[in-house]
Amino acid sequence: MDNSKPANKRITKAVIPAAGLGTRFLPITKSQPKEMVPVVDKPTIQYVVEEAVASGIDDILIITGRGKRAIEDHFDRSFELEAELKKKNDHALLAELETIAELADIHYIRQKVAAGLGHAVLCAKKHIGENAFAVLLGDIITLSDSPCTKDLIGIYERYGASVIAVQPVPIEDVRRYGVIKGEQVDDGLYRIVDLVEKPTPEKAPSNLAVLGRYVLTPAIFDCLEQTKPGLGGEIQLTDALRLLLEREEMYALEATGPRYDIGNKLSWIKATVELALMNEEMGEELRVYLQELLRNK
Ligand code: UTP
Repeated sequence: MDNSKPANKRITKAVIPAAGLGTRFLPITKSQPKEMVPVVDKPTIQYVVEEAVASGIDDILIITGRGKRAIEDHFDRSFELEAELKKKNDHALLAELETIAELADIHYIRQKVAAGLGHAVLCAKKHIGENAFAVLLGDIITLSDSPCTKDLIGIYERYGASVIAVQPVPIEDVRRYGVIKGEQVDDGLYRIVDLVEKPTPEKAPSNLAVLGRYVLTPAIFDCLEQTKPGLGGEIQLTDALRLLLEREEMYALEATGPRYDIGNKLSWIKATVELALMNEEMGEELRVYLQELLRNK
């Protein structure tokens, strides 16, 4: 038996970058972090934190920035509100608020300048240390029976390599995403051969787009430190991943459920409708309303 390969350590830490300026969702993002934009009755970032927790993560580092204080307040206790709910005997809501504050061990660090997603991930270097970790973009909601990050962790445990979630998109949309070139090794699983940030449809190596969930080995930090500002003058995570690919094997896993980019207004509306239809309290009534509305349009 070959015992030479060290066992992959369990992944317990996640980084949630949430320091971007959210210019695509102006004017709402002028005074409110886009990660706090509500979808039905929860802010976007709560769905993201819940996905991390459901994937076995218990230590979360949120990368915040100027004007993002509402995120910290949301995951904190609110004694005034709790006292008020106790007075009103609203135990269900009280329990829900307490659960939010106890979801995980949440830490914060500020990215002083929004210098790109890669730069935001690099801010996590000290906190993460020498272990592999998950990255979940704070403005992306994924829906599936098995959480997307949990599936990525499963692949990391099998192969001991970085793995990123991808999803097919219409070829005319590839210019909005990072796109992979891969060799299929299993059902929905690819060994990555190349990665391109926001290619034109003509230059895209595939239509498999990076969707905002990653499990990365700590070697990414060295790669990020060596990455020069790229597209838009920002340190791009995709550029650092290309460097990592020169040093280590990397995999891409096709995610099964839908993914919503809350920074995009139409995608946010779709997420709201989809999640509201799934909601026990309002789903049925909304379905009837939507059917009626569309009949009259
Ligand atoms: P986006 O690519 O959506 O960038 O970031 P953005 O700047 O927030 O949005 P637009 O394009 O101006 O509308 C994806 C995730 O990475 C975070 C964002 O907060 C978001 O959750 N991010 C982005 C950072 O943490 N820092 C950055 O410098 C850039």
